Amino acid sequence: MASISFNFGNIMAPALDGGVEASLFDGEMAEAFGAAHAAVEAQRATGVLGFLDLPHASETVDQVRTLAEGYGQWFEDVVILGIGGSGLGAKALRDALLGPYWNDRSDEERDHFPRLHVVDNPDPFTMRGLFERVDPARTLFNVISKSGATAETMAQYLLVRDTVEAAIGAEAARGHFLFTTDPTVGALRRIGEAEDIPMLPVPENVGGRFSVLSPVGLLPAAVCGVDLDALLAGAAAMEERCRSGRLSDNPAGVLATLLHHCDSVRGQPIHVLMPYSDRLRSVALWFQQLWAESLGKARTTDGKPTATGPTPVAALGATDQHSFLQLLMEGPKDKVVLFIEVTDHGPDSVIPQRHPEIKELAYLGGHSLGELINTERRATAEALRREGRPNATFFLPEIGPGTLGQLLMLLQVATVYAGALYGVDPLDQPGVELSKRLTYGLMGREGVEPPDLPESDPRWVL
Ligand code: PA5
Repeated sequence: MASISFNFGNIMAPALDGGVEASLFDGEMAEAFGAAHAAVEAQRATGVLGFLDLPHASETVDQVRTLAEGYGQWFEDVVILGIGGSGLGAKALRDALLGPYWNDRSDEERDHFPRLHVVDNPDPFTMRGLFERVDPARTLFNVISKSGATAETMAQYLLVRDTVEAAIGAEAARGHFLFTTDPTVGALRRIGEAEDIPMLPVPENVGGRFSVLSPVGLLPAAVCGVDLDALLAGAAAMEERCRSGRLSDNPAGVLATLLHHCDSVRGQPIHVLMPYSDRLRSVALWFQQLWAESLGKARTTDGKPTATGPTPVAALGATDQHSFLQLLMEGPKDKVVLFIEVTDHGPDSVIPQRHPEIKELAYLGGHSLGELINTERRATAEALRREGRPNATFFLPEIGPGTLGQLLMLLQVATVYAGALYGVDPLDQPGVELSKRLTYGLMGREGVEPPDLPESDPRWVL
């Protein structure tokens, strides 16, 4: 399998003026990583890092494959209802491996695999649009919620269930639902058990944002024909690479250690992931959630206020060279940019040689679009380097299940190493609870007091 590589030369001195010294990398940083590695290994031994084992969960993968084959034959559309970690992984896999126009292709062009919609937000306009687009009689709704209680997803489920029943009758409607949820507890599981709706498990030790390689991401991918073996083999190979306790051998360790160092020592807490490929835009959004929800914590694991914390930003090359790059080049020096370059974009288009007399166009002729986009990535990395702005690049030989599996695993492992370096728990998300509770109270959930919301001071409302 072609391996992905990570070039971080533009974070290091002397290539980057004032960059990280090799002696620091081999000394203090290697030592800090050694401690983080030991902490993660200790966590692994307790069994809480279930995502590391997902590439080898062959029984569950067989279950996913069997269901996916049946569903793929029966349904024209598959709709995922899930938010956060229960939606972003499926989107990342869909856009990377099926491409941004999958749902616009004809049945033949899709090899008769279904269209795949990921509906995360309970936006009434989107939901109405969905029902104008899909025929309930030919659609599978995969409701994904680890907790089985997320307000957005449960509201969508209730609405969809009603709509499907109204269209095809209650008995037939049951066959149009698949629940992906906790293996033992939760409201969704209770409904599934009571009503005999097929269910797939999200392992108890796998949290939402680490669940892309569980049935949460695998079922949607498999139902559209993605090669799960290659995806998981890529992830397994990267997981193996990222086990090394030697910093210089461990790509996830290097990523986490450098980003943590840039944040805590160099005042660079903003971490931009900028793939130069439309197909990887959703991977950047997936990473944004992973890095933010895992590392944005008020307190360390021993209860002290956190001193630093990163802010991830998803960007897209070359598009954002015309929107964001000015800030990256000349704005505050508080950012590290992580590029993703795809060596081989697949079938490419050669730019025709027209207007040889017009210099603004003539130089483009004969080059391909892939060459242009990759050259732009290279030029942008160099421009940032010359301005003393740290950047690094992941090189993917191609976009396929094997390389994507590697990338997703690398970023997840880096997140738990970063958790250890920051001294925070990357697996929890206490900061999202308050707004959830306030919503429950305001929406009238039994057992939750309606909150007292202060009236806005009219002086501050125009
Ligand atoms: O990463 C997380 O844990 C969250 O983003 C969850 O995935 C999100 O809140 C949805 O939760 P659930 O799957 O329980 O509906």
